[in-house]
Amino acid sequence: EQPQLLAGKTITITAGPTREAIDPVRFISNHSSGKMGYALAEAALLLGAKVNLISGPVTIKAPTGVNLINIESAEQLLNESLNYAPRSDAFIGCAAVADYRAATVAAQKMKKQGDELTLTLVKNPDVIAHVANLQQNRPYTVGFAAETQNVANYAKGKLKNKNLDMICANDVSQSDLGFNADNNALTLYWHNEQLELPTNSKTAIALTVIQQLAQRI
Ligand code: PMT
Repeated sequence: EQPQLLAGKTITITAGPTREAIDPVRFISNHSSGKMGYALAEAALLLGAKVNLISGPVTIKAPTGVNLINIESAEQLLNESLNYAPRSDAFIGCAAVADYRAATVAAQKMKKQGDELTLTLVKNPDVIAHVANLQQNRPYTVGFAAETQNVANYAKGKLKNKNLDMICANDVSQSDLGFNADNNALTLYWHNEQLELPTNSKTAIALTVIQQLAQRI
């Protein structure tokens, strides 16, 4: 039984990958399983929060009691995030959002052509930056940074450039941590503080992240 530190609070969490359609049967995506984001949702529920979980396509089950909102593309994620974030005390962007999408989505299945195929991609909106820059009803905004090198510098850069309050940095260069693993290790950064969370189950890591968040909202 956890102390109900988040009673009366609403937390919106994004999780899983996005899928960016190329044609009716193909898409661009990544290896996010949703485990980290779903563990955060579970931890927030345990501490008494009302939880909106905006999720890309995953195979795991949402914790009982969350308001699950299914999305596929980054643009859908942006729409739902801008719908729920202004009504939330905190917003956590754990989804692995595709940075680019196909410039045009073919209406019919693309036919096999020559030996090379060039696909033009255009930049997706930065969902968490939109949330963090809300002029009214801006929630406490927490990002994740998935890096394979220069983890601390890149994460601190994202904290600042995206106007976040807190960022959870994971080194995703190891196959037993981060994407699609049961364990993770994070470094949490605020503008004047940091905290190391050594390797542990995503369940345990998520509880610490949510406890840290609860102290600040
Ligand atoms: O789902 P799992 O298999 O459990 O794996 C967990 C995880 C590795 C996916 C997770 O811990 C994680 O790191 N999530 C963020 C992945 C990511 O997209 O990182 P990034 O460094 O590219 O993005 C930085 C931040 O900006 C993130 O909060 C991301 O949600 C957000 N972003 C990125 C691009 C974009 N267009 N819009 C965004 O909102």
